[in-house]
Amino acid sequence: MAKMEVKTSLLDDMIGVGDMVLLEPLNEDSFINNLKKRFDHNEVYTYIGSVVISINPYRSLPIYTPEKVEEYRNRNFYELSPHIFALSDEAYRSLRDQDKDQCILITGESGAGKTEASKLVMSYVAAVCGKGAEVNQVKEQLLQSNPVLEAFGNAKTVRNDNSSRFGKYMDIEFDFKGDPLGGVISNYLLEKSRVVKQPRGERNFHIFYQILSGASEEFLCKLKLERDFSRYNYLGLDSARVNGVDDASNFRTVRNAMQIVGFMDHETQSVFEVVAAVLKLGNIEFKPESRSNGLDESKIKDKNELKEICELTGIDQSVLERAFSFRTVEAKQEKVSTTLNVAQAYYARDALAKNLYSRLFSWLVTRINESIKAQTKVRKKVMGVLDIYGFEIFENADNSFEQFIINYCNEKLQQIFIELTLKEEQEEYIREGIEWTHIEYFNNAIICDLIENNQTGILAMLDEECLRPGTVTDDTFLEKLNQVCATHQHFESRMSKCSRFLNDTSLPHSCFRIQHYAGKVMYQVEGFVDKNNDLLYRDLSQAMWKANHSLIKALFPEGNPAKINLKRPPTAGSQFKASVATLMKNLQTKNPNYIRCIKPNDKKAAHIFNEALVCHQIRYLGLLENVRVRRAGYAFRQPYEPCLERYKMLCKQTWPHWRGPARAGVEVLFNELGIPEEEFSFGRSKIFIRNPRTLFKLEDLRKQRLEDLATLIEKIYRGWKCRTRFLLMKKCQVVIASWYRRYSQQKKYQKIKGSAITVQSYIRGWKARKLLRELKHLKRCNEAATVIAAYWHGTQARRELKRLKEEARRKHAVAVIWAYWLGLKVRREYRKFFRANAGRKIYEFTLQRLMQKYFLEMKNKMPSLSPIDKNWPARPYLFLDSTHKELKRIFHLWRCKKYRDQFTDQQKLIYEEKLEASELFKDKKALYPASVGQPFQGAYLEISENPKYKKLKDAVDEKIIIAEVVNKINRANGKAASRIFLLTKNNVLLADQKSGTIKSEVPLGDVTKVSMSSQNDGFFAVHLKEGSEAASKGDFLLSSDHLIEMATKLYRTTLSQTKQKLNIEISDEFLVQFKQDKVCVKFIQGSQKNGNIPTCKRKNNRLLEVAVP
Ligand SMILES: Nc1ncnc2c1ncn2[C@@H]1O[C@H](COP(=O)(O)OP(=O)(O)O)[C@@H](O)[C@H]1O
Ligand SMILES: [Mg+2]
Repeated sequence: MAKMEVKTSLLDDMIGVGDMVLLEPLNEDSFINNLKKRFDHNEVYTYIGSVVISINPYRSLPIYTPEKVEEYRNRNFYELSPHIFALSDEAYRSLRDQDKDQCILITGESGAGKTEASKLVMSYVAAVCGKGAEVNQVKEQLLQSNPVLEAFGNAKTVRNDNSSRFGKYMDIEFDFKGDPLGGVISNYLLEKSRVVKQPRGERNFHIFYQILSGASEEFLCKLKLERDFSRYNYLGLDSARVNGVDDASNFRTVRNAMQIVGFMDHETQSVFEVVAAVLKLGNIEFKPESRSNGLDESKIKDKNELKEICELTGIDQSVLERAFSFRTVEAKQEKVSTTLNVAQAYYARDALAKNLYSRLFSWLVTRINESIKAQTKVRKKVMGVLDIYGFEIFENADNSFEQFIINYCNEKLQQIFIELTLKEEQEEYIREGIEWTHIEYFNNAIICDLIENNQTGILAMLDEECLRPGTVTDDTFLEKLNQVCATHQHFESRMSKCSRFLNDTSLPHSCFRIQHYAGKVMYQVEGFVDKNNDLLYRDLSQAMWKANHSLIKALFPEGNPAKINLKRPPTAGSQFKASVATLMKNLQTKNPNYIRCIKPNDKKAAHIFNEALVCHQIRYLGLLENVRVRRAGYAFRQPYEPCLERYKMLCKQTWPHWRGPARAGVEVLFNELGIPEEEFSFGRSKIFIRNPRTLFKLEDLRKQRLEDLATLIEKIYRGWKCRTRFLLMKKCQVVIASWYRRYSQQKKYQKIKGSAITVQSYIRGWKARKLLRELKHLKRCNEAATVIAAYWHGTQARRELKRLKEEARRKHAVAVIWAYWLGLKVRREYRKFFRANAGRKIYEFTLQRLMQKYFLEMKNKMPSLSPIDKNWPARPYLFLDSTHKELKRIFHLWRCKKYRDQFTDQQKLIYEEKLEASELFKDKKALYPASVGQPFQGAYLEISENPKYKKLKDAVDEKIIIAEVVNKINRANGKAASRIFLLTKNNVLLADQKSGTIKSEVPLGDVTKVSMSSQNDGFFAVHLKEGSEAASKGDFLLSSDHLIEMATKLYRTTLSQTKQKLNIEISDEFLVQFKQDKVCVKFIQGSQKNGNIPTCKRKNNRLLEVAVP
């Protein structure tokens, strides 16, 4: 079976025994062996009941991690392996939940790990208690008070590099919820002698070295210090540097911690000034100087150091100087000043240094308390942590007053331990209703009494000796002791009255020995008186009080002359006794928790377990005693529930479940197991087991049973696992199968569905096609029937039609035949009456009918009335050919007449003239066609209007028919000359074109003939009657553009005047009478070089040639 991970009891996986109470057999050897075994397995904590033994491992173990804190948090004390956290948790929880104030007492010799243990307790409590900004600040201040106190109160010693040289008790205060509120620190007996002198291999308090290493140059300068350790007499040089300790960085940590704790800057400054002053005091040296009265007087060798101290502390130099030279004793209003010799001066100097430093330390504690004290007035729960020096025993009678005091303190602690342990034990028995059996144990009250008894106690005697007038020395003190304590069992001295030690050579004469509960310690009596006196000359305290330095002034209130107290200050011993008494009182009100620290070796080395050394510690710590006390009644006790829970598997009735009350279950269980009755007892809530053997037997049985059970569990588990797996697989299989079936069925279904659909579709198709076929067939049948019917009907119809046609033909034929027959019959009938004329009459009638029809048709087909429309309907009958043509002609004439009838007289005249011209020249003169379109205007020249021709107008009084310019051809050369040609009703006149003067006037009757060519020219000759007046100059040969018009008008005018037709000759050769000569004018076809203008040339006397183009 795998190793159980979760612990439910410290008995699980135990190395050796976790609780010494269970140790069998119990003796010193087995005790040490058990511790060693555990130590070798890194188990540094072991219980004695509720007491924790802690062995310093001298190396960091991984057992203080936050995870470990969580592991131990809220767990029962015996549940897990022994641990300082279990104790812390137990203490914290009973403080929080049961409202019990707690104290944690940590004891052990120097270097055993007390201070570390106290820090572990504090850090555990800080980790598990409440959180929040305010709470965290309180925690931080509480935790940070440690570095400050350690710097000023710790030193390197031979045993411990960080040895606390003071006792410390710290009350941490909580509210009802368990949140920290604040704290109060008490300090005990600082080892102040260390300030001025350190044993070999040891150092002064850390702070001196820290300042010199860590302060800045500037700061050192301010403090008038030099960095070199060797400059200071008070600093032991042989181990100024400690391995693994960084003084410089620690200095920064300290300053930071001071700041967190709440020191103001000026306070910090003052503190360091005091430290510097103490350091410098050591450098003041004295030399003897003989006085006049023969006594030696001391003088300060070099005043420079003194001066600097005075500057630092604001003390008047002369005052301090005097205080080092004189001592004033005041007694009964009398002041006596005595000079100090060199030795006294040194004593005074050292006393001042020690006092300054120890008072500074106390002030620091007070100041820290001021910062960390709870701010509220509510009721507080308190957890006290006591980190106090343990028993100190030096070899070779090196034990002095300090050891005496320390051991006294431990004696007291032991006493309270015994008292409280027994008390608790007793209370538990009563609480549980168990019969109380007397427990034998050593009560050290007698030793305490030896030391502290007010009359016969050693401290009382020391005080008595110190206060006694007369010479007091350590020897007188020892003598006194020898007298008073001689009979005390625990006091040993060579010189005592008790003869027992007379021959004890191990006991020197100057020593006494006390049998402490933890062993015998030999004290060297030298220095007891001095140290107890703790004398500081009043001159010095007064000088200090006068300092212009508020802190120093405050440290020496007794220096105030106003408060002079002639009573001696309480001795160191009585002071300590008082504070121890207060402490004890305080502790007695609280629930104690013990941590016993043990140092495994003297070398500060890991892994080394020096049995002799451990044995020594076990002895003086009284640990065996402790176990015995614890075991006096019952070695082991446990509440019923966890007990039943742990062992119930050993009995059938209680396994696996016990239904009744736990106590009954345990009773059944123990009876069943046959444990002898005297071995156990039933308390109210717990079972008490007398002997560890019984417990181990139970454990063995349990172990064996567990193995069986493990096998059983394993078996059942395996079975269960296999079954679960099987069930799971079965379930899986079912699921898979169901899914698969579903899947395959789905597939199958889909396939069937597909096939069904296919078959269905085929069948449907087939059915549809069948139906279609049927329908088609039906349709075809219908169609066929229709067609047949149609054909039939057609046939019928055609037959009928044929029949009807036949019938009609027959009827027609009958009718025709009938008609013919009738005609024949009628003709036969009437032939005898119309035989001669009938044919002609029918013919005429027919002809008439045809004519009638022709004309009626013609009426409708008449062409337009335009004379130039050539259209004419076609001839319908051949026999009407001539008629048709005639009709056309008549129609044309008629329409021409119609056209003419529209003309005015003017138009008629024009057309008459034009008609005349046509008759005269058409087809005769080539010029004619061109003239047809030209209207005949006659008067081309505006004779009557143009003033130029006024004379001409005046000369011609008749109506002018033609007035036009013509060319008169010169008969000599054929050249033309322009003349005005005028035709009046009776005359033809030629006038000059320019002047208008009439050149010739020919009466129309004298004009015989007009000649012209047939060609396209305007030449014409006007032949005159021979012998007439006009003819004397010969005929005129003229040319005009309007020849046709002129000739026509001349013809018409002549005709209307003379009633004779004017002869117009058209020939290409004619003769013209020029005076006597007749000249032939010949027209030839000429070239066209002059355009269309004909040219006239005289060829010879008888020939004029006109070239017509
Ligand atoms: N629990 C621990 N784990 C590791 N080292 C420890 C432990 N306790 C003590 N030490 C070591 O031992 C040294 C001395 O411890 P400390 O508590 O100062 O002793 P004490 O106060 O009893 O004189 C510490 O400086 C530290 O190095
Ligand atoms: Mg310490």
